[in-house]
Amino acid sequence: MMEAVSYTAQWTAAARAVETERGDRATFRDSYARALAAPRGFELLEKNRGGGLTTFIAIRTKYLDESINAILRENDIRQIVFIAAGMDTRPFRLDWPEGATVYEADFPALLAEKRRRLAGMDARPRVERREVAVDLRRDWLPRLAAAGFDRARPTLWIAEGLMFFLTPDQATDLLRTLGSASATGSWLCVDFVSQALLRSPFSEEFRRKLEEDGTPWLFGTDEPEEFLASIGWKVRDLKEPGEPSTTHDDWPFEVQPRERKGPSRSWLVRAEFAGQ
Ligand SMILES: C[S@@+](CC[C@H](N)C(=O)[O-])C[C@H]1O[C@@H](n2cnc3c(N)ncnc32)[C@H](O)[C@@H]1O
Repeated sequence: MMEAVSYTAQWTAAARAVETERGDRATFRDSYARALAAPRGFELLEKNRGGGLTTFIAIRTKYLDESINAILRENDIRQIVFIAAGMDTRPFRLDWPEGATVYEADFPALLAEKRRRLAGMDARPRVERREVAVDLRRDWLPRLAAAGFDRARPTLWIAEGLMFFLTPDQATDLLRTLGSASATGSWLCVDFVSQALLRSPFSEEFRRKLEEDGTPWLFGTDEPEEFLASIGWKVRDLKEPGEPSTTHDDWPFEVQPRERKGPSRSWLVRAEFAGQ
């Protein structure tokens, strides 16, 4: 039985299928997404339509595709860990450096479901890929190490679409844990929502539906640079959806000036490990 939160991975896969199927206008292609979205992804996408979320997931996917490519091009990193990998298929669709190993950490039932569906499509990873079945709220690093992870080597961590499902303490602990296993030269790609998004009357209905599904959004930050700096990560790139490099022809909102404190925001971040 999958955890309630794992169905949100089918939802993000459904959003990637929608983007992929825009033909010439698609900003990336994930040909596995439609199959990985089954059985509940499209239902959740429909239920939670509005607020530009489907387009946001496309923007986030592209930003992270480009971030991963850039970080691996510019740094000597061969160890990549997807934290809460969900139905992400980057090991099957991106180019990876020679000798790289990609770890995908998520709940055991999610990984089993993903394995079954990928096998049905005869999907072949383009990199050495290892599954790590964990509960990220527990002591999970030993499992990562057992799969071959070496904390003496620099790592690229990717935590996409995860942080808002954690409590503030769990989110902070998780990012500290990544730091504790990070050699000098490690990087992190992550996204957050703002505090305002967790309180805004405009997103109240959306948040109510998430609660109803047992997947409430709990953590947000209005100061991602300060938050990350306080736990050992130096932000090197920060974008909001709708900036020139993170725009999309279906994105309906303008970027609000940073000094305006009220608006709901999403942050897309690349950070470098600064030591703890
Ligand atoms: C919205 S999905 C994002 C998946 C993927 N990163 C993406 O962007 O498509 C959230 C993922 O977090 C995973 N997750 C949430 N809490 C977790 C936990 N405590 N331990 C392991 N995985 C967890 C879920 O199983 C699910 O795959």
